[in-house]
Amino acid sequence: MKSIKKLNKVKSIKKIFRYFNLDLRRYYPQRFAILKAKDKFMGKEIIACEIGVFDGEHAYQILKHLNIKKLYLIDPYTNNTNYKGDPMSNSNFLSLAKSKAKKLLKPFKDKIVWIEKLSKDAIGDIKEKLDFIYIDGNHFYPHIDNDLENYYTLLKQDGIFSGHDFSDGWIDVVIAINKFAAKRNLNIFASSGDDWVLFKDSEIGMYDKTSTSKRNVTEKVRK
Ligand SMILES: C[S@@+](CC[C@H](N)C(=O)[O-])C[C@H]1O[C@@H](n2cnc3c(N)ncnc32)[C@H](O)[C@@H]1O
Repeated sequence: MKSIKKLNKVKSIKKIFRYFNLDLRRYYPQRFAILKAKDKFMGKEIIACEIGVFDGEHAYQILKHLNIKKLYLIDPYTNNTNYKGDPMSNSNFLSLAKSKAKKLLKPFKDKIVWIEKLSKDAIGDIKEKLDFIYIDGNHFYPHIDNDLENYYTLLKQDGIFSGHDFSDGWIDVVIAINKFAAKRNLNIFASSGDDWVLFKDSEIGMYDKTSTSKRNVTEKVRK
């Protein structure tokens, strides 16, 4: 049996749990975008999409907490990005993540449509409008910018547009979302967990072309 001192060198939480013969049950808090979607759709059946699936943990949360009719999962799982020196660009790492995602999401296989392509190539495979879009693929410019412009066209008028890594660490994401929201007069809702959320139906002028106030538009929508 290893001494506690030696255990100190084991850099794996799982191995430490195994050593003490305990079960590791991780708690994944629901992200802000899912909470907002829960509020907005209130149990209604929705069609959603996640760009950048990795090990499927967040896709699992979408499937668990929202009433999903169909979920498009987009990830090429290949070393195609410019994440230099990042484990995300390591093909072995991605292949492990893919296996984990496939296993984790198997219970939902009837609701999932896997598209193992880059987001820019996957868009042509989606032939319907979506209620909820979550963007967490390539975080660099111009990729994030292109994802925003391309996928917004697929979003229903009352849909939620959202994603991850709205943080100081991913400044390209912050710039792209700001540019996108400013162009359309949309408010950006962001959370401490780094999710960002935009509501398409709060776009100024969508409901009343003469309106100059976002509040007016929102009130009109509610009536
Ligand atoms: C940050 S991880 C996603 C994590 C996942 N959304 C979660 O929260 O559990 C980023 C993933 O995006 C994928 N990716 C990178 N570039 C992409 C692109 N252009 N289109 C789609 N997926 C991409 C990578 O393969 C990687 O698995």
